[in-house]
Amino acid sequence: MTLTDAPATLDALQQRHLERLQQAYGDTLTRLGFDGVLLYSGHPRRHFADDQEASFAAFGHFMHWTGQADLARSWLLIRPDQRPRLKIHAPDDFWHLPARLPDEAWVQAFDIEMSRDDSPPVLPAGRFAVLGEVSASLADSLGAACNPASLTSALDEGRVRKSDYEITCLRGANRQAMAGHDAARQAFLDGGAELDIQLAYLGASRQRETALPYANIVGLNAHGGILHYQHYATRPPARRCSLLLDAGHRHRGYCADITRTWAGPDADPAFAPLIEGVSALQHELIDALAPGVAYPTLHRRMHQALGELLVDQGLLHCSPEAAVEQGMTRAFCPHGLGHSLGLQVHDVAGRVDGQGRPLPPPETDPALRLTRELEAGMVVTMEPGLYVIPMLLAPLKERAAGRDIDWPRVERLADHGGIRIEDNVAITATGHDNLTPPE
Ligand code: GLY
Ligand code: MN
Ligand code: MN
Repeated sequence: MTLTDAPATLDALQQRHLERLQQAYGDTLTRLGFDGVLLYSGHPRRHFADDQEASFAAFGHFMHWTGQADLARSWLLIRPDQRPRLKIHAPDDFWHLPARLPDEAWVQAFDIEMSRDDSPPVLPAGRFAVLGEVSASLADSLGAACNPASLTSALDEGRVRKSDYEITCLRGANRQAMAGHDAARQAFLDGGAELDIQLAYLGASRQRETALPYANIVGLNAHGGILHYQHYATRPPARRCSLLLDAGHRHRGYCADITRTWAGPDADPAFAPLIEGVSALQHELIDALAPGVAYPTLHRRMHQALGELLVDQGLLHCSPEAAVEQGMTRAFCPHGLGHSLGLQVHDVAGRVDGQGRPLPPPETDPALRLTRELEAGMVVTMEPGLYVIPMLLAPLKERAAGRDIDWPRVERLADHGGIRIEDNVAITATGHDNLTPPE
């Protein structure tokens, strides 16, 4: 039976994902002359001179097999043609609930030891590597190579194209995140403060804050123009011009990363058409996603379209081409069009080619996180933005190009912060599949 005959269950998809992973790891290990690799899940940091720990997410390559983001101090041994061996740290502890196995297919495919201690397993004879947050001396004591670059880079490459199981998980994460976005928008319309919006989001998306794949960005008014704004104000502002909400979800290890921007009751009339403009250009750019397309080409197209939008909306009095050439569109949008998405919100291997050779971003776009050509199975974000960031716009005032900016109009928009619209899209054999449900 093939996938098209009947929808495979999640367990069946996960089993197939693991079979593919076993094969890929076996090939890579054999090619690089290793008998196996030991993956360490990692452990949370402890605050200095305290007994409290920071939030934690497991090492991506450990999660690639297990999807378990919160399994700390655990070890996974992978060898060609052998069942994975997992040593889970589960101490006797009446202060905490010890780790337990989830009801998932991978559990049947692994040899699992629940262990009171968190020491690495004894390795069989042979040439091994250990990957993760381990010291060189620990690797030495195991007789294993510590995070060898060739193996890390090959395994990173193995995460670039997602399996059907992974895409199903990413779609699930998106569905949960969108339930949060819907509730958060309502909290904004009801006059909530940033914290109220965040709490509405968490409640509806059913995730505690420390389990999120990144700290949600809840920016009311000018805060929307601070790209990674990190606070949640507890009081609503007197005027409600805008909400920029960049909020995600983690599902079986896999991340959603969705942004929406809404005009508030006190918005300047120029703001809503700009949101519509960014949304329209985002849809056009998504339509262009297909195998063989170089992602930097789409990023350049975003700047051309932003130039057109800024001119159409009367913020610039020059040609769209001049707006791009003079760096004006980059002052309005200093980040990249998007990035690879998976077990990490900014997933691995975005700036290398298929052989691990560096593909640095263009000098004009140092923040572009994805410089590759698209291939079927990749999952990327598409997140054009347009912001009023005084620090970036002020220098234009000193330059000739500044004469082409309608400064009073820009200043009227300053307390609206900015606009970003972000979806998560899978590249298919013939085009693309938007994993983000419509709101
Ligand atoms: N949420 C971070 C980003 O959009 O890349
Ligand atoms: Mn985002
Ligand atoms: Mn993103």
